[in-house]
Amino acid sequence: MRSLSNQVFSDKDLLREITTYSPEETMEVGRMIASVSEKGDFIALSGDLGSGKTTFVKGFVSAFSSPVYVKSPSFTIVNEYELENGATVFHIDLYRVDSSALDDIGFVEFLDRGIVIVEWSEKMLAYVPEKSLLIRFEIIGSDARKIYFYGGLNWKQRLTLATNLK
Ligand SMILES: Nc1ncnc2c1ncn2[C@@H]1O[C@H](COP(=O)(O)OP(=O)(O)O)[C@@H](O)[C@H]1O
Ligand SMILES: [Mg+2]
Repeated sequence: MRSLSNQVFSDKDLLREITTYSPEETMEVGRMIASVSEKGDFIALSGDLGSGKTTFVKGFVSAFSSPVYVKSPSFTIVNEYELENGATVFHIDLYRVDSSALDDIGFVEFLDRGIVIVEWSEKMLAYVPEKSLLIRFEIIGSDARKIYFYGGLNWKQRLTLATNLK
């Protein structure tokens, strides 16, 4: 693992930018990423309150047929969705979490079992795996959001695949 942040990601790591003009379009972007995601993926979301992170996750989860919502027994900040294929989506929102409490969450175990998506990933830079996809959301108008994707070669290829699948 290495730390990773908006600052660490420079323009050369920018894989793509997408502008959306409604929540539905942002959900569609979530579904597009879900179509090329797999167990063990770590997706780190960042951006201001109201920039569309949760909306993206709703779309992401809706890409899977009948995901079952499971309230995580131990952590209120973790929402689990069990998928038909036996994998799990772990949706973690660090908005109200003190960075010093993050040790206990056990991200590595989550990655063994499914896909991890983290809102406010800025708070856990030290835990973000190197192979993550980082998605940064920016508010550019009342209904307009700019979504920036950063990552390595593997995610570059997957984004290309996702676009071709559409
Ligand atoms: N293009 C858009 N994409 C996503 N959300 C949008 C967009 N336009 C307007 N919105 C609104 O912005 C808010 C985004 O909220 P949310 O997804 O909870 O943000 P975050 O999780 O980043 O705080 C919602 O009220 C949504 O209806
Ligand atoms: Mg949110």
